[in-house]
Amino acid sequence: MQSLNAIYIYPIKSANAIRLTLSNVEEKGLQFDRRYMLINEEGKFITGRTNPELTQISVELLSTGLVIRAPKMKKLTILRDNFSRYSIASILWSSAIDAQHCHVECDAWFCSFLNQKCQLVHCDESTIRFVENKNTQVSFADGYPLLLINQRSIDQLNSRLKIPVSVLRFRPNIVINGDYPFVEDSWQKIKIGEVEFEVSKPCSRCSFINVDPKTGLVLNNEPLQTLAKFRFYEGNVDFGQNLIALNSGVIKEGDEIQVLETKGSIYYGNIDDYQDNKENILQIKYQNSNVQFSGNNQQLLLDQLAKAAIYLPFSCRRGLCGYCKVKLIAGSVKILKDEALTDAQKTAGYILACSCIPSADITICED
Ligand code: FES
Repeated sequence: MQSLNAIYIYPIKSANAIRLTLSNVEEKGLQFDRRYMLINEEGKFITGRTNPELTQISVELLSTGLVIRAPKMKKLTILRDNFSRYSIASILWSSAIDAQHCHVECDAWFCSFLNQKCQLVHCDESTIRFVENKNTQVSFADGYPLLLINQRSIDQLNSRLKIPVSVLRFRPNIVINGDYPFVEDSWQKIKIGEVEFEVSKPCSRCSFINVDPKTGLVLNNEPLQTLAKFRFYEGNVDFGQNLIALNSGVIKEGDEIQVLETKGSIYYGNIDDYQDNKENILQIKYQNSNVQFSGNNQQLLLDQLAKAAIYLPFSCRRGLCGYCKVKLIAGSVKILKDEALTDAQKTAGYILACSCIPSADITICED
């Protein structure tokens, strides 16, 4: 029998998981999941992609709020009754959200922990955010209310890795024991406990899965590099399935997974098959600091720049946020993804360094 193995929530975006034996499923996701996040001075969300130390914050649920702890920090109690009750215009990927400010004491704690200016905001009943192109609300999760991971798929990934990774690398809400690896790719609608779910979309992965949640450190480019060898499709590396709950109700560990509808699976490939087989040495010129270095036609431009100590801002590493946008002044690149760019930006020659590979000598510049 396919069954529900574990339930996790992450009350603060990018902070530690809490494991539950049962949970209420709401429209926005599991109750208490991703109801808090940090924003910078411009209102843009802060995550473990750029601040992996966030994964070292442990969170305890209270009926009145949260208690949080982190290395070298005093414990902080966050009480909803003390919230400031004003909203802050916040940006989470492409969503503009009116999020609720928590309290200046919370801001001070996180500023001290991250060593940068930030504010903690809350997603309450008044905070409206919809899943893209869907009539369903979502909390401060990346894009969808819930994420499902199959333990059998993790096992298969681990059989390819030198050092196995825990399921928590993938920050799932629901971990299931499927009949076989990646059986979840073929599901359209499932039922767990009292709740039916639409299996909406595979989850595209970024470098956040390379952060070890135990240490907050990135030791190498794994498991993303290995996943890209067998889970690559149309510029994305997919692992896990995003879910939308079709009704509210309770799910609990041990519940049977009932598959109500299926669909055709995507045929996944190896990222190497999409790159030129023959490695060529190319010249990459970064006009802002007039630096030129030897690159290649095999690796992502963002990674090649970083090797040359040119650190562009980035967040998603999958063509969605636009942080790594640069202008291509000369030469050509192979574009893997460009969703974050407007048509006008594409016409003007902008490219996303995280989602393209040089195919000739290039000159680029940052605005
Ligand atoms: S890092 Fe988000 S688009 Fe490149």
